[in-house]
Amino acid sequence: MTRGPAARTVGITAEAGPPSGGRDATEHAFDQGYWDQIWAGDRAAAMGGARPSPHLVREVAHLPPRSALDAGCGSGAEARWLAERGWTVTGADIAAAALDRAAERAAAAGVTERTRWLQVDLSTWEPDESYDLVTTHYAHPAMPQLDF
Ligand SMILES: C[S@@+](CC[C@H](N)C(=O)[O-])C[C@H]1O[C@@H](n2cnc3c(N)ncnc32)[C@H](O)[C@@H]1O
Repeated sequence: MTRGPAARTVGITAEAGPPSGGRDATEHAFDQGYWDQIWAGDRAAAMGGARPSPHLVREVAHLPPRSALDAGCGSGAEARWLAERGWTVTGADIAAAALDRAAERAAAAGVTERTRWLQVDLSTWEPDESYDLVTTHYAHPAMPQLDF
């Protein structure tokens, strides 16, 4: 997997602590710790479908391939679909396990050379390049569930 120069490791803030402010201990914050657990656990298979979003297919299938960013790419179904159609794709996600899975799938599809995978926190990341297409699918902001 290629980790670009803008990639950085962000701190895990999901340590379970005592409930405060009236919040329930079962609540989580959609932060890196949460997503690392999801992608390392049993829910990864359900999360990481192989088929791209029909919204992306509908909006993009007729466009000429250029450069694209998939923000919160997960295991890369959309990024891979784009790369298979000639796009040069950056998949960005906070979870290393998701990116590893995305890179494996891209390799199996023979599109490694048109993909790169960046582990970044989208809430603070500043890309060092521009993209012709930016797409995102079901990316959650990092905030407590009850504030969502
Ligand atoms: C619900 S999943 C959707 C994944 C993929 N886009 C899909 O449709 O299958 C949300 C994704 O956003 C990523 N994510 C959540 N917060 C993020 C952040 N602050 N920075 C980067 N990625 C983040 C998670 O790791 C997860 O892969």
